[in-house]
Amino acid sequence: MGHDIAGRLKSNGQEHILNYLERMNAGERQSLLEDAARIDLEQIAELFGSYRSLRGQGHEQKIFEAAEVLAFPPTDVFAAERRRLAGLGEDLLRQGRVAIFLVAGGQGTRLGYNGPKGCFPVSPFRRKSLFQLFAESIMALRSRYGAALPWYIMTSQENNAATCAFFKEHGFFGLGAGTVRFIIQKENPSLDLDGRLIISPDKKIFKNPNGHGGSLYAMKDSGALAQMADLGIDEIFYFQVDNPLANIADPLFIGAHAENRAQMSTKVVRKVDPAEKVGIIGRVNGRLGCIEYSELSQAEIAERLPDGRLRFSSANMAIHMLNRAFVEKLTSDPDFRLPYHIAVKGIDCLAPDMATVHKIDGIKFEMFIFDALGFAERSVTLEVPREEEFSPVKNSAGADSPDTARAATIARHRSWLQGSGKLPAVPADLVIEISPLYALDAEEFAEKFRPPPNLSSPVYIE
Ligand code: UD1
Repeated sequence: MGHDIAGRLKSNGQEHILNYLERMNAGERQSLLEDAARIDLEQIAELFGSYRSLRGQGHEQKIFEAAEVLAFPPTDVFAAERRRLAGLGEDLLRQGRVAIFLVAGGQGTRLGYNGPKGCFPVSPFRRKSLFQLFAESIMALRSRYGAALPWYIMTSQENNAATCAFFKEHGFFGLGAGTVRFIIQKENPSLDLDGRLIISPDKKIFKNPNGHGGSLYAMKDSGALAQMADLGIDEIFYFQVDNPLANIADPLFIGAHAENRAQMSTKVVRKVDPAEKVGIIGRVNGRLGCIEYSELSQAEIAERLPDGRLRFSSANMAIHMLNRAFVEKLTSDPDFRLPYHIAVKGIDCLAPDMATVHKIDGIKFEMFIFDALGFAERSVTLEVPREEEFSPVKNSAGADSPDTARAATIARHRSWLQGSGKLPAVPADLVIEISPLYALDAEEFAEKFRPPPNLSSPVYIE
């Protein structure tokens, strides 16, 4: 088989791999050949072709429009409709027709944390990990609705073992191992700027996870989608690992999505600072999708409507509802493809001398989940309050960092305390953390809370 692969490598412009093979011991050579045999070299050539044509033509001409947004400002006018839709969502939750799907396969390099991002200790006082916060919310939801609400977690080759070990070590946070299922997304080889495969310092072909859009295929290929159908699940709540304030399986969102018979829906928060680096849910050449920050011109980023709001203000929270049958339909269609997005990143590359390692520019190919919006005939874009639901951890310091997420958590819980009306005044510097196992929202908190005789910072309520 070695000869066949060598031939294929040569005829696909990858003959440099042969230089490495020559200097490898038998075991290394065998495993590199096996790895190379699994790579779709024709697809690689196609991907590189798309990179070259993009580079050749500069930015593709795209026309952007803002999306239509559904919002329920916290006034009495909207209260009844809000309650009605949330009631619909609660029915689906009670009937066990919702699954929870977390994407946690990313590399999280910006945070500078050595390990799966979900293990990052994020809560302000107890330093609970992102995974623990989500697990506790799911536990609370299961008991609130008396439903199974299975949890699927997408990992990647790179972090699956560490993620599974973390859950085992913590006894699955009490959820029951059988109710949490890990599925591993696929990878794509990264290429150098001449379209050649890259050998990493561990003598393997360097690959990157195929992007969060890979989740659709991972659901299908792992059998998770079929399992959901067997369990009577119709709707999938999708969220990403970096937001400790994620309002998991929010009944309002589920209800609004289901009532509109939407195939895929998105939650957004209002962007107020033009400089905030978020994707915008909007129309790209007439199709619903996400406009990346870098795609808008400075004028478009700063453009305001007559009422003073930004024209492109629907900041993508990367929280979606996906109708299971829609995912099934897309992934069973042989002609369906999510487009590949290209990023050039520094990658450690082993030189053919098998000793030197250089950092080179490499091309990463990824699919993005929001491109599936363009395939949905019906979709709801729901705007929710940022201070309640969105504070992602992306960077080690500054904006969107552990510090800002902790401050946002404290502020949210302080406002629940204040809103409960059970204390005359809440000190502005009170550090407070409320366990999801105690309350999932302000309403539940207000119902349960009995003020202790004295409340001194930091307060942990569970
Ligand atoms: C993303 C969105 C942006 C949105 C913002 C909200 C993109 C390109 N942009 O930005 O529109 O406003 O979130 O916070 O997505 N992941 C995988 N596998 C992969 C790659 C990523 O599971 O192969 C997961 C990560 O673990 C993470 C999530 O996807 O949970 C987001 O990935 P990341 O690349 O960090 O997205 P952002 O660029 O921060």
